[in-house]
Amino acid sequence: YTAHIDASDIEKGTYPHFMLKEIDEQPFVMRRIIKEYQTEDNKLKLDADVRQAMKACDRIYIIAAGTSYHAGLVGKEFIEKLANIPVEVHIASEFSYNMPLLSENPLFVFISQSGETADSRAVLVRIKELGHPALTITNVPGSTLSREADYTLNLYAGPEIAVASTKAYTAQIAVLAILAVDTAQAKELELDFDPMQELAIVANAMEVLTDQKEAIEELVRENLGTTRNAFFIGRSTDYHVCQEGSLKLKEISYIQAEGFAGGELKHGTIALIEEGTPVIAIATQENVNLSIRGNVQEVAARGANTMVFSMKGLEQDTDAFVIPHVHELLTPLASVVPMQLLAYYAALHRDCDVDKPRNLAKSVTVE
Ligand code: G6P
Repeated sequence: YTAHIDASDIEKGTYPHFMLKEIDEQPFVMRRIIKEYQTEDNKLKLDADVRQAMKACDRIYIIAAGTSYHAGLVGKEFIEKLANIPVEVHIASEFSYNMPLLSENPLFVFISQSGETADSRAVLVRIKELGHPALTITNVPGSTLSREADYTLNLYAGPEIAVASTKAYTAQIAVLAILAVDTAQAKELELDFDPMQELAIVANAMEVLTDQKEAIEELVRENLGTTRNAFFIGRSTDYHVCQEGSLKLKEISYIQAEGFAGGELKHGTIALIEEGTPVIAIATQENVNLSIRGNVQEVAARGANTMVFSMKGLEQDTDAFVIPHVHELLTPLASVVPMQLLAYYAALHRDCDVDKPRNLAKSVTVE
């Protein structure tokens, strides 16, 4: 279990920090996931029981905390769009206070890097008392959440040591995409999406992205050097990555950072924009490109220091960074990499303890 691995046993090699090593490992993790979830004749390889449970349920309740919750938000899109099953995503610690009305045949999906998060476990205990089935998606098979659930899917990300989660997030999203497609196939739905082929493209894109550390470091030096706060804006899928990008930045650099849906700016947040406030915009989705570009102009007109991270094909000359093209469903897997690197270099620049930020623990085993 990750919990039983002593950090000093795991080598950083030539890396100054585990976080940077783990960011760089992401292309390999993608390729390992492709290998582990594929049969020799290129079919998806998932436990038949998991397939059956997915097929039998009428609604999925994803339960998670922190970064894993953010992966769940992306997973909801896959499962609804590809497998046509309604999904709710809940913050584990909130679930018990306002337990939603459950459908007739719910399936609970716990997403947890460590498999030990107490808030998630409390929900698992509760729903097991109610007799509902549970699937755990974790990096640590054999962990508490894995042992106590009916089914487990492994993330194959390898031990994640840095407190700020990186490769586990992308592994969670990749496995959720595979799960959604497998369910769609089990339900004999028409699909125009080959997850393994698209994940292979993602792995290559991640390599291109992790090779651009200097460009990101430069952006940090120029724009995040002494700032007190920073905002991330995006729409649709990009909004989820904004939430994760802002969590990464606040966790390790202590810059007050928030991720907002572009359309919500005008309902309050825009009041916070001052001369020089850094605003990072993610623009990977064609259908919302015009609207997010409009938001960027609105904040720039009020003095914001804007940095647009766009996807190839949607880029404009003034963009700060262009992300290689990947399938539109899988853009978080690419766009999150420069966000992770932004946080890393911002923390480094401020002499923060990158791998062990103050007040935080890798795995939170108290409620
Ligand atoms: C802690 C970590 C976060 C993590 C969260 C959920 O707060 O610092 O990085 O996202 O727990 O952990 P889990 O192991 O359940 O994914």
